[in-house]
Amino acid sequence: MTPEADLFTPIQLGACELPNRIVMAPLTRNRAGPGNVPTPMNAEYYAQRASAGLIISEATQISPQGVGYPATPGIHNAEQIAGWQQVTDAVHEQGGRIFMQLWHVGRISHPSLQPDDGLPVAPSAIKPAGEAVTYEGMKPFVTPRALTVEEIRDIVGQYAAAAENALAAGFDGVEIHAANGYLLDQFLRDGSNHRDDEYGGSVKNRLRFLQEVTAAVCAVVDSHRVGVRISPENGFNDMHDSDAQHTFTEVTQMLNTFRLAYLHVLEGDMQTGQTELDYQALRTEFDGPYMANSGYDYQRAQKAVANGQVDLVAFGRLFISNPDLPERFRIGAALATADEATFYGGDEAGYIDYPAMTEADLVSA
Ligand code: PHB
Repeated sequence: MTPEADLFTPIQLGACELPNRIVMAPLTRNRAGPGNVPTPMNAEYYAQRASAGLIISEATQISPQGVGYPATPGIHNAEQIAGWQQVTDAVHEQGGRIFMQLWHVGRISHPSLQPDDGLPVAPSAIKPAGEAVTYEGMKPFVTPRALTVEEIRDIVGQYAAAAENALAAGFDGVEIHAANGYLLDQFLRDGSNHRDDEYGGSVKNRLRFLQEVTAAVCAVVDSHRVGVRISPENGFNDMHDSDAQHTFTEVTQMLNTFRLAYLHVLEGDMQTGQTELDYQALRTEFDGPYMANSGYDYQRAQKAVANGQVDLVAFGRLFISNPDLPERFRIGAALATADEATFYGGDEAGYIDYPAMTEADLVSA
């Protein structure tokens, strides 16, 4: 918005004053403890990255049904709240800020991950192409069960309860995950939503679930502490929409009614980087801060903020291997490359053992 801003210009994000615009993107790392409870190792990982303007937590299940991957954390019981409290305390001790990303995977699950080996749920009984990640390895997705209207309303309530739990665990706010082919996104896009009731058909109907979830969350968390993430043209998880520009313009207009902390947009396709949408049109449509993500490096991010095209940039991979990323950006230090073999699951290796810069690095930078 301010033409002279750069990544190091502080920004007021709803209720939070951020010292910089370098956000740690939500990253699934599959290292939660038994019972989907965060561990001291998770707390150390996040605390190491507390110099981010804002940390957005890894996607976190709002309910046992919301789970889609091994060892991902939840926020639906007391043990999980206590586990997350260690994380938020550790981040705050280091001077950071952290939002929790609220997640229900919908059809991107598998009976072996579900309570009572049940079928995963979705807007419509449409099987996504591809395979689920289970404790026994990759397994073909199954055809999900379409949710009833009563169940949809229950899930709206579960989002609100999870948001309340996130506050109880010490989070500074929450991000509603409506991206990447998970449950809320499955309702938004017409490739996965073939319903003929008030939750399907027109864009207004398809966005009703997100609208109700956002309203329910904003009833328990001040809307200035609530962000929403969308990914209009990400094909990940077998997603498509016949008119993404139109669909997500209406989604953005609907979100404007809430005075949110930010809109977080994963631009383009997560895997190919391809993009055809006019994101500037979406950005202009949105009344609050616009956070961009996917494929940004330092140069491109600096330029986008300086041009006023985006307000903040979320970095994923770079934060995995550079816990002190803002400082490295600031002094132009070399960046470490992340090891993909340790992205998902495992122990400390590739998780909390990427070092911050040393004095020697600082001298040579
Ligand atoms: C993943 O585990 O691959 C994953 C999780 C959440 C996302 C995207 C990808 O939003």
